[in-house]
Amino acid sequence: MLQKPRGTRDFLPEEMEQRREIEMRMRRVATLFGYHEILTPTFENQELYTIKSGEGIIGEMYTFEDKGGRKLALRPEGTAAVLRMYVNEAKVLPKPIRWCYLLDCFRYERPQKGRYRQFWQFGAELIGADTAAADAEIILLADGLLRAAEVKFSLQVGHLAPMKHILSDLAEDDKKKVMALLDKRSFEELESYLNNTGKPEFYDKLTALTECRSIDEAKAICGEFPGMERMEEMLGILDSQELEYTLNLGIVRGLDYYTGMVFEGFAENLGAENQVIGGGSYRLAHLFGGEDTSSCGFGIGFDRVMVSLGSVELEKSPLISILYTPEGQKRAFEIASLLRKEGLLTEINLLYRGIGAQMKHAAKNAQFAVLIGKNEIESGKVTLKNLATGEQKECAPEDLPGKVK
Ligand code: HAM
Repeated sequence: MLQKPRGTRDFLPEEMEQRREIEMRMRRVATLFGYHEILTPTFENQELYTIKSGEGIIGEMYTFEDKGGRKLALRPEGTAAVLRMYVNEAKVLPKPIRWCYLLDCFRYERPQKGRYRQFWQFGAELIGADTAAADAEIILLADGLLRAAEVKFSLQVGHLAPMKHILSDLAEDDKKKVMALLDKRSFEELESYLNNTGKPEFYDKLTALTECRSIDEAKAICGEFPGMERMEEMLGILDSQELEYTLNLGIVRGLDYYTGMVFEGFAENLGAENQVIGGGSYRLAHLFGGEDTSSCGFGIGFDRVMVSLGSVELEKSPLISILYTPEGQKRAFEIASLLRKEGLLTEINLLYRGIGAQMKHAAKNAQFAVLIGKNEIESGKVTLKNLATGEQKECAPEDLPGKVK
């Protein structure tokens, strides 16, 4: 038996219905915030991802050459492609631009619960507003989406400014390495790297920063830092909205395009893969041929949200199953069409079995049966049966929708 590729999943109808329900709740909130949905291609030129992160990222992606020898990659995330699209199609639109998306992303990862090679992100990007209010809006939207999904989570909000201030006289490569080690929380390796770089004193400062929970505490560690006022303004907005979050100035984020505000959210009931959202502010447009533009956004790990929720209760519409003897076939199709026009879920028996067998089958998943046999053809009526109570009565076809409703 052939199997699906490692790290991918099949979704049966029941699961798809639950996913769609959560997706709809998220879309509704995004719409209320003024975000419009967009879609980018599943694959992009590899360069889109290596331009910022270097060739190293190829090992983490699904890359391939097409028949024309073009180097392509399945998208590992949404942001780069959305900013490429902004530069290609929308840079003249009035700012700020508010876009959201639900995309499948592909990463060559070691699969485990909550970590897949194909996974979905519900994301948003706010392009062209370089303000504390924009940073705050994106965090409030993220919070609103996760609340609408009813996932139990905690938010951590940070800012790269104090950390960058501490590291300001390091070379770019050393900065990147130090931040990658902090992101992985590899503190031993970090200490020896800083010793070798001749900056052992940074170690205590950086680890203290990961512990501090207020701007004043950060100031005590690294003095006044550029971007401090903007950070204060953003936190002021979040506090005025009574957002529940923890300030964490140790957040670095794995992707290396973030420039200021960063934030992450964690589901309460997941194990190792409990991060359900990651985002922050960044500048990418200038790398893709546009003007230097500030943006911020986030990606919600949609599959992790679903794992965290377990099963979602859905409001189910009743299903009507139409059963018939051979002479009732055309009438059955006619009545199914009439019921569907009234917005009622209707399926027709297709297996040419006896009425008893059809009824048994209908009782497995339908709430009502409509019977069309010899008697019904002669009388011009149909028999409607409530499959839960067993109650049944004859009625004119045009009265069916009212009776079912
Ligand atoms: P990210 O943190 O790499 O950020 O991914 C966002 C979320 O996607 C993660 O928090 C996690 O929930 C989910 N995720 C990541 N990898 C996997 C996986 N292998 N399986 C299942 N879920 C996964 C980004 O991708 C940025 N583009 C977010 C962003 C948008 N920043 C600014 N704008």
